[in-house]
Parts: sequence; structure tokens; C-alpha cells
Amino acid sequence: MAETKKLLRALAGEVQDVPPIWMMRQAGRYLPEYRATRAQAGDFLSLCYNPELAAEVTLQPIRRYGFDAAILFADILLIPQALGADLWFVTGEGPRLSTITQQSEFEALKQVDAIHETLSPVYETVRILSRELPSETTLIGFAGAPWTVATYMIAGRGTPDQGPAHALREGNTALFEALLDRITAATIEYLSAQIDAGAEVVKIFDSWAGSLKGDAFLKYSLEPCRVITQAIKDRHPGVPVIGFPREAGEGYIGFAKKTDVDCVALDNSVLPAWAAEHVQVDGCVQGNLASSHMVTGGQALVDETRQIVEAFSKGPHIFNLGHGITPDADPENVQLMIDTVRGR
Ligand code: CP3
Repeated sequence: MAETKKLLRALAGEVQDVPPIWMMRQAGRYLPEYRATRAQAGDFLSLCYNPELAAEVTLQPIRRYGFDAAILFADILLIPQALGADLWFVTGEGPRLSTITQQSEFEALKQVDAIHETLSPVYETVRILSRELPSETTLIGFAGAPWTVATYMIAGRGTPDQGPAHALREGNTALFEALLDRITAATIEYLSAQIDAGAEVVKIFDSWAGSLKGDAFLKYSLEPCRVITQAIKDRHPGVPVIGFPREAGEGYIGFAKKTDVDCVALDNSVLPAWAAEHVQVDGCVQGNLASSHMVTGGQALVDETRQIVEAFSKGPHIFNLGHGITPDADPENVQLMIDTVRGR
């Protein structure tokens, strides 16, 4: 049967007049209905682990905007928690975790098989969504890339320059690599279970890939992404993988070929014309409107959206932002972006 879902068609390499569109963090605080459901859940983590409510917030942007894909509502930091790290969120500041900087702390982590105990509600969310999503909407599962997840596990919080993770990488390479290997193995099991539950595509978020340079980028961003992609393809032939080595710059060139991902997601620091020439030559790309346009709107949003659609029009393309939408965004601007992409 010919594939009818627009997102899956783009991932299979089809060039479409109107690209499929979805948005990173499309379920989030810029939407009043999200804020209401989050209040009902109590806090962010309770929302992640409540399958009915997590499915509800995943569906909200689909109902409101009719995006071509829904992304499972969860967080990349559930993996550290499932491995035994303490995790909590400080309102207005972000995540906090118990840190891993010493061998003894690493040894206290759980083994990979134990993760499903914590993560089973997430698989239930996926099952609910695969029943309830409209037939034209693709369900995307996701996980953080090992490097990005490790930066939070090592520092115990978000950091502007990932300094603590770089310090461990250089100061105790064996421990750093053991941690990356544990996260990599856990991520394979986690994504695989999401696919078993009904995820049709998986995306690997390497939000801090840009702070790895040269060989370190190849070893700790590209290589784990390749290993995870390979394992997913071995176990689930035909399930596409999207890689997002955010701010990789020149590292985007050849990333799809070297990792075997079906699509490379681009942040907005790269010019669409450059990316069309150097990245889209190898297959589907996703991106890359600056999320600030969702705050500012107006003609600049329209012009920039059109330029991106045009620049990527000769190859397979999934329209998206270059990073997640922010809480101060105006929901009307999201509609304007969609209307512009769809030519209405
Ligand atoms: O995109 C979606 O709609 C799906 C759900 C999703 C969330 N986080 C929900 C979330 C996804 C795919 C993520 C990925 C994620 N989480 C990343 C990688 C992508 C990126 O943005 O770079 C990272 C680094 C995290 C870790 C994380 N989660 C941080 C640093 C924070 C706090 C900062 C912030 O934006 O508040 C979160 C919280 C978080 N994850 C929220 C949401 C909707 C906001 C929480 C709230 O409701 O208070």
C-alpha cells in the first residue's frame, strides 16, 4: 500500500510541494490548554508519568493546528531517572539531578534492564496515542543522545558550556565513556520499547552536540548516534530515525551517511541554502525556522518561512523550528507559520 502519511513520505525521500510540518516542544507552556493540564497533573514529571494526561497534551497541538506529526510527551531526562539518578525540576530554573563524577556514583546506577520499571507509563502513553491520533498523523518517539543526557547527569543541571562534562571527559575518560555506554544501551532499549508500543519514527536529540569539536564530536556525538541507529534498524527494519546534532555546523555534512539516520534535523544557525547544498544532498532534512519568530511574528516570520520552504524545495524536507518553541510564543504566530507553509 502506498504510504499516505506526509511525514513518512518525506522520510522515505519523497519531494513534496507542501512539506509536512510539526514543531519541537509543540506541546508546551505557550498553549493555555497545556498549562491547564499540567496544573491538573500537579507538576511536570507527574505529567510525564501520567499516560492519560501525557497523551492529552500530546494531542492538544494536533487538535489545534493539525500538525503532520505528534511527538510523544516525555523528557530526555527520564532515562537518567530510570537509571537511578534523582531528578526534579525547579520552577523557572530547570532540571536538577544527582551528579555522576566519581566511579562510586556510576556504580550505584541501575543496569539497563531495570529502566522499563520506571518508563512503562511512557510506553502506555505511546499505546494510547497510536489508538487516538488521526490516521494522517505520524507518531514520533524520542530520546536524548548519550552526550546530551550525560551533560545533565554529570553537572546535575543544565550548563551554558557543558563545562563539567568536558572536564570529566578529559579528566576521567574511562568513567565518562562507561557512562556514555550505559546511556547508549539504555537508549536503545527505551526507543525500541517505544516502537513496540506504536512509535512510527524516533528522533535522537543531541542538543549540546555543538560543544564537541573535531574528534570529540565524531566519537561522542556521531558514533553513539550511529550505534543507536544501527541497533534500531536491526531490530525494527523500516522505522525511520531522525538525528539532531544541534549546532554541529560543518559536522552536519555527511552526518546522515555516517550514522545511517534517515533525516538530519537542522538548527537555525545554518543557512537553508548552505544546508540544501551540503546536507540535503544526502536525503531528508528537517528545520529550521528560528523559534524567536514564534514570539515576534509579522512579515519577517512569513518571509523567513517562505525562504526556508523554497531553499529546501528540491529535496525531501520536513518543516520545523531550529529548536523548541519557547513559553513566551504567541499561538497565533504558530498558525501563521503553518498557513504560510501550506500556502493558505
Ligand atoms: O517536543 C515536545 O513537545 C515533546 C516533549 C519534549 C519535552 N522535552 C517536554 C518538556 C521533548 C522532546 C523534550 C526534549 C528535551 N528535554 C531536550 C532536548 C531538546 C532541546 O530542547 O534541546 C532537553 C535538553 C530537555 C531537558 C529539559 N526539559 C530542560 C532543560 C527543561 C527545562 C527548560 C524548559 O524549557 O523549561 C525541560 C522541561 C520540559 N520538557 C518542558 C517541556 C514541555 C517544560 C516543563 C514545564 O511544563 O514546566
